[in-house]
Amino acid sequence: MKKILVTVGCGYIGAHTILDLIENKFQPVCVDNNSRSTESLLEGIRKITGVTVKNYKVDLCNFDETFAVFQENSDLEGIIHFAAYKAVGESVEKPLMYFENNLTSLINILKCAAEFNVRNFIFSSSCTVYGTPDRIPVTEESPLKPPESPYGATKQMGEEIVRQAAAAHGITSIMLRYFNPVGAHPSGLIGELPVGKPQNLVPAITQTAIGKLPQLVVHGNDYDTRDGSNIRDYIHVSDIAHAHILALQYVMENRNLQRCEVFNLGTGNGITVFEVIRSFEKVTGRKLNYVIGPRRPGDVVAIYANNTLAREVLKWVPQYSLDEMMLTAWKWEVKLKEEESMYNNPNYQMN
Ligand code: WQD
Repeated sequence: MKKILVTVGCGYIGAHTILDLIENKFQPVCVDNNSRSTESLLEGIRKITGVTVKNYKVDLCNFDETFAVFQENSDLEGIIHFAAYKAVGESVEKPLMYFENNLTSLINILKCAAEFNVRNFIFSSSCTVYGTPDRIPVTEESPLKPPESPYGATKQMGEEIVRQAAAAHGITSIMLRYFNPVGAHPSGLIGELPVGKPQNLVPAITQTAIGKLPQLVVHGNDYDTRDGSNIRDYIHVSDIAHAHILALQYVMENRNLQRCEVFNLGTGNGITVFEVIRSFEKVTGRKLNYVIGPRRPGDVVAIYANNTLAREVLKWVPQYSLDEMMLTAWKWEVKLKEEESMYNNPNYQMN
């Protein structure tokens, strides 16, 4: 089996991608210092597949520790690099922490990839590289406007670093620009584990509905959109995950036309915040408690993808509807609550 190194494989998208790698006969190896994740999702993967994935608890900003992982896995056929802080608001408060973490880890990984001749590199990028687009939907050729946050800046810079490293060291690279990853694996055994109060819309909705948050605050309803709320392209995390497998197969079969190629990963549908809320209420039968609050600094009014390139070149076809995204997100939230109640039960015995 082809061994693939997955950085932050214990994270939301990382874990869903590791699951898909296993199901497609790859051998994933995880590197994750668990600073913003836990190994619980690897346990969920073990329950689904029976496979125990090895995790190296290594800080990718430490070059020597990172190098040692490559020394122990000199047979790597590819790398999928998810490692990065990604909270837009936090990046505005702590820009230097974001530049240091997101770029140092990336540079260390690329140095090792060059040193150990790992030929295939998949980079986790983001629609935030487009900034506030002049026209939507955005294609991969749309101009990259000034980033709305330091987080977005780290993704723009990250893409340039990957592009230059690919050219200089012959590392075939694919950059995947995620739109808004949401939902959870249909099994309900892996999903999103926000650290602290969720910044993103869908976990904020599910935590409000389950009672962990008192109410959802909608950040503004006076935008120039069809219902006054922001428009985004919500895409199921399993669809995002599968695109990584297709991208790996694309480069491993030498179908790539250039050393470094970029793909948008979105459904191509622009959905408003209120439409997300209505979908959630419909599929769960629960009325969501929300209020309208002020606009959130850094929010782009509207963005969604033209995903033609990924569909035509990677043969990627998103499978999940908005309703299914909401239902799987809710199923996961319910599962978390059940587990919490079980662990808090005084009669519970650890096996
Ligand atoms: C979506 C909409 C909010 C929370 C995210 C990640 C970023 C990147 C792209 C990966 C906005 C509104 C939200 C809430 C709300 N992901 N909202 N109340 O900002 O598009 O960016 O996806 O690279 O890392 O942050 O997603 O879910 O934060 O916001 O009204 O409590 O929901 O204003 O309009 P965003 P989001």
